[in-house]
Formats: sequence, C-alpha cells, structure tokens
Amino acid sequence: MTDQVRHTGGTGGPPAKHAGRLIVTIDGPAGVGKSSVGRALAKSLGLEFLDTGAMYRAATALALDRGVDVSDASAVAALAREARLHFDWTQDPPALIAFDQPVMGRLRDADVDANVSTVAGLPELRAVMVDLQQSIGQRHPRLVSEGRDQGSVVFPDACVKIYLDATPRSRAERRARQISGVDIDAVEADLIERDRRDSERAVAPLRQPPDAEPVETSAMSFDQVVATLAALVRAKVGDALPGEALARRRAGVPCGNAV
Ligand code: DC
Repeated sequence: MTDQVRHTGGTGGPPAKHAGRLIVTIDGPAGVGKSSVGRALAKSLGLEFLDTGAMYRAATALALDRGVDVSDASAVAALAREARLHFDWTQDPPALIAFDQPVMGRLRDADVDANVSTVAGLPELRAVMVDLQQSIGQRHPRLVSEGRDQGSVVFPDACVKIYLDATPRSRAERRARQISGVDIDAVEADLIERDRRDSERAVAPLRQPPDAEPVETSAMSFDQVVATLAALVRAKVGDALPGEALARRRAGVPCGNAV
C-alpha cells in the first residue's frame, strides 16, 4: 500500500481518535539518532515508523535535480505536490517514491545535506509535508514518527511525545565512531549550526513540546536509548501494545487504547 499526497478531512482514513490509534512522536536535533532509535523502537513495539526528515530531503533532491531554486517556496511546494511523494509500505524500511521512482539513494548526498535546512524552512513546502504526514498518520495509525515538529505541529494529540537530546559533542563523537577519519570538531561545529538553523527558523522551529518527555542520551548506548524509550511508551500506553493487552490491562490508559 502506498500513501500519496492528499488532503486530510476527506472520506479516506479513520478519524483521528479512532480505537487503536497509537502515535509516538520523537523530536530532537540533528544527529541525535532519532531515525535509528525510532526504527528500532517501532520494531520492538510492533509499530510502523515514519522518517519525516527523509521527506524534506527528497523535496531538496528533487529541487536540485530539476533546477528549481531551493529558496523559492511556491516552486518547491508545487514540485513536491507534482512528485506525488509517498512511501511504499510493502518494503522494509518503507521506500520513499517521487515521480514514481525510488529516491532513497539520493537523500544523504552532500548537496542535499547542504540545502535541506533551507528547503525545510519554506512555509508552503512545510504545509504540503504536514498534510501528507497527517494523512499517513490516518492510514497508519500505529506509528512512531520522528522529526522536528512531530509532537508540536503534526501530531499534537500523540499518545507519547519524546524529545531526544544529546550534547553537540557527544553527537559528533557518535558520528566519528560510525565514519572513520571524520574531524570531530568540524562535525560538532556543523551540528551546532544545524541546531541554530532548525531552532531559529520562523515556521515550526525545533522546540521541545511542553508535554514531551525529555530524554538526554549523551551518556547512553544505542540499546540503552531504545530500552529507555520502550519503557517510557509501555509505562504510558502498555495496554495498547500487541501482546500486552491482557497482561497489563488497567483503567485510564491516556490514549490510543486499542483493546
Ligand atoms: O533528520 P534529518 O537530518 O533527516 O532532517 C533533514 C532536515 O529536515 C533538517 O534540516 C531538519 C528538517 N526537518 C524538519 O524541519 N522537520 C521535520 N519534521 C523533519 C526534518
């Protein structure tokens, strides 16, 4: 099944609060491990996973490849609409498709990296993306969704909101452990600059939603982060997770009660 860009509020998906809805949002700065942690968390809890950074990266790649000015908000938004951006959920992880072609291979290229924060700051493009993400949340209502604005803008009614954080230094050190030969100081400086751009932009700036659970991961291993988040989700909505309904049933599950 695929998810094409379309407007919410039609007859398509189930209503926002239907039984079984269980949205977990993970927001936080660049390089904190939201995608890898989010994917592992989703797997361990039997939920689907949405990488919204990939969507902004795809819009950036499309603009660059088609000669569209990355600072032209209406042109980039129009391109994202025309591209019929959607995920192919039959693949694991779900493959992002634009103009009927997979785009995943292009998303981490240096030119995309260099331009994506400009594109992510375009209000019209963000409106297209928010609409698409909410539409995905309607058709995939048991979801871990990661980004910068998932708990604050896209899924304000999410069952569990997590704000993942780590110092720029520890994020840079993690990257250095993954890629040999990187200059830690340069990576740290780049992350600080990305944090600044993401936090200072006018539309949907990176913020810790007031109702999000902050998790500071600088001193944690990957497995510890995943285990901490899984425990947090279970503590809040354990009754709504597969296999836990009978064992953990209790009154007053805050939301997303599927059983
Ligand atoms: O998480 P990432 O590095 O793949 O994100 C790429 C860019 O998109 C980054 O500049 C932040 C931005 N982004 C955003 O503004 N809102 C989101 N929900 C996800 C990513």
